[in-house]
Amino acid sequence: MDCLGLFILLILMFFQWTAGHTAEEISWTYTGLVGQSEWPEYFPDCGGTSQSPVDVITTQTKYDPSLIPVTPLGYSQHGNRPFTLYNNGHTAVVELPDWMGLGGLPWLFTAVQMHLHWGSGSPSHGGSEHTINGLSADAELHVVHYNSELYPNMSAAMTQRDGLAVLGILIVTGEETNPSFNNILNYLSRIRHANQKVSIPAFDVQSLLPQDLGRYYRYNGSLTTPPCYQSVIWTLFHERVQISKAQLLRMETILYSSKAEEPDKMLLQDNYRATHPLNHRVILTSFSAESWKELSSGEVTAIVIGVMCGCVGLAVVIRFIVKTIRFFKLLHLETVVVNSSTSSWDVLPSNRPAPMPRIKEMEKALEKKQDMTLNLTSETEKKEEPSPCPETEP
Ligand SMILES: *[C@@H]1O[C@H](CO)[C@@H](O)[C@H](O)[C@H]1NC(C)=O
Ligand SMILES: *[C@@H]1O[C@H](CO)[C@@H](O)[C@H](O)[C@H]1NC(C)=O
Repeated sequence: MDCLGLFILLILMFFQWTAGHTAEEISWTYTGLVGQSEWPEYFPDCGGTSQSPVDVITTQTKYDPSLIPVTPLGYSQHGNRPFTLYNNGHTAVVELPDWMGLGGLPWLFTAVQMHLHWGSGSPSHGGSEHTINGLSADAELHVVHYNSELYPNMSAAMTQRDGLAVLGILIVTGEETNPSFNNILNYLSRIRHANQKVSIPAFDVQSLLPQDLGRYYRYNGSLTTPPCYQSVIWTLFHERVQISKAQLLRMETILYSSKAEEPDKMLLQDNYRATHPLNHRVILTSFSAESWKELSSGEVTAIVIGVMCGCVGLAVVIRFIVKTIRFFKLLHLETVVVNSSTSSWDVLPSNRPAPMPRIKEMEKALEKKQDMTLNLTSETEKKEEPSPCPETEP
């Protein structure tokens, strides 16, 4: 009986161990033994043909005028209940209340969570998952929603086509601090180790998004972490959001991917996946590069001022040319006048013949001409003379 009892206990322990291993996901990483190139071995979808992130080659995108602006629903009505921020060993996640959602898509989507991807501070390195024309941003924010019109919850939706909608926000650094991001960054020191959780004051989630929600890239892709389900309608905003270098540094250097009890601390850095081929997918744009709609009011003002300056410049040039032509015409006339007057003054010196004979010659010539015309008229008169005769005939 003792032997049988031990055997049953061992079998139970074995099942518990295997069950524990399948339920608790395989601990994947970005580099190393279960790094991103090995993900497909453990998570078959990661080797699929519609994976994310992708590189957006802007010249190969297609303008779709039917893409209306996405509309965050309830993002600013955060209420009084705190948000939960936690370190899942791969990123910092903020759980979102289920009254937040997303409109402007073919279905209504309900918010689930948002999280960040970043680099490791080296300038050559990226940090964002999506790239535009091969260029990375410093970090990227993802706001995850599930299709609550077609599916009852996140776990049911995440495996289905059109099950999820994720907003991608590219983050770059500048001089100014972005106070909205401090609503998350100020609490990272409370979740330094994997599996740590903290309640943070609720805040306006829309303040993390860019101003312009009308211009974006749209494509069908996947989760960028295992199990890489190809269930995501991606919206990557054209406008980037700016944070300070100090804020980026906090994002990159505070968190560990290791648990508190683990002896070796591992910094949580470079938690971004490499871009994947489009494989015949087309990235749609809600804006046309040739369209005037794409230009901001500032750009339009600049163009209007430029055109006005151009017109004024052209008018000045034309005026100058006209004036120059007039000047040369006047100069020409003056020289002619001066020439004729000098010739008359030249008459005075005695070495020149007097103008009189010339006048006489001219008078003679005129007389001759007059004679000619008189002769001609007399001839025509003579010729016309018989003409009235036939008219008198009865
Ligand atoms: C999600 O919905 C499915 C299908 O209705 C259900 O079986 C499952 O228990 C739900 N999961 C959660 C976490 O509520
Ligand atoms: C995504 O796939 C759906 C089919 O499930 C298709 O109707 C839609 O046009 C695709 N969207 C894009 C942006 O290609």
